[in-house]
Amino acid sequence: KKTKDQLIIDAGQKHFGATVCKSCGMIYTASNPEDEMQHVQHHHRFLEGIKYVGWKKERVVAEFWDGKIVLVLPHDPSFAIKKVEDVQELVDNELGFQQVVPKCPNKIKTFLFISDEKRVVGCLIAEPIKQAFRVLSEPAGPGSPTSTECSRAWQCSNVPEPAVCGISRIWVFRLKRRKRIARRLVDTLRNCFMFGCFLSTDEIAFSDPTPDGKLFATKYCNT
Ligand code: ACO
Ligand code: ZN
Repeated sequence: KKTKDQLIIDAGQKHFGATVCKSCGMIYTASNPEDEMQHVQHHHRFLEGIKYVGWKKERVVAEFWDGKIVLVLPHDPSFAIKKVEDVQELVDNELGFQQVVPKCPNKIKTFLFISDEKRVVGCLIAEPIKQAFRVLSEPAGPGSPTSTECSRAWQCSNVPEPAVCGISRIWVFRLKRRKRIARRLVDTLRNCFMFGCFLSTDEIAFSDPTPDGKLFATKYCNT
């Protein structure tokens, strides 16, 4: 199987036929059947979302008027794990992330937000951590950069602080954004991560956030 790395390197060399799909953003080699197949799959999922039929004994950890949140654990039946893998693949393709290999695969908790139309419209992947580096707040004042300026690097403290739970991925289907789905996923995570306690925002950390992720995290942690 071709790695994402190779796809990106090939993209710089026009004669390999690298194409960027204008709808789904994926870079692929049109002349390579395997690539093309991967693209068709990603393209479809990107536009349509991922279907969710459900299974017996699914772990519903929250219910809302517009959907529900299901928790999937590493030793769940293979069809549950397969669903999580499909979602993760879509998210990784969209974010252009290298697949991350978790330190403790059997401690991963995955939360899926399922819409009323039976689609996976949100996903949060969390793992236990021991420490995190706090993002330093920006100096406010006239002339200081606004929070909409996304390209700047975050400044992080170099003093590690204890933390409990790391959010390695959070993602909401593009047509369902700004409907508080991410917020509800994090609320549910704080409630379910450790039995019998509600984690404070100091105890959770977002790893490597994207610009969207930062805007959300900043807002979430201050309200
Ligand atoms: N721009 C500005 N503010 C934002 C944004 C944004 N793009 N997204 C969220 N917020 C703030 C808003 O204040 C919002 O409240 P409001 O809508 O009442 O103003 C508040 O956060 C809560 O937002 P939600 O509706 O709960 O967030 P949403 O469900 O839209 O999901 C997410 C946010 C997950 C970042 C989504 O935009 C997304 O999937 N983006 C693409 C994937 C991505 O970049 N994920 C983060 C990767 S980093 C990581 O995984 C650790
Ligand atoms: Zn496409």
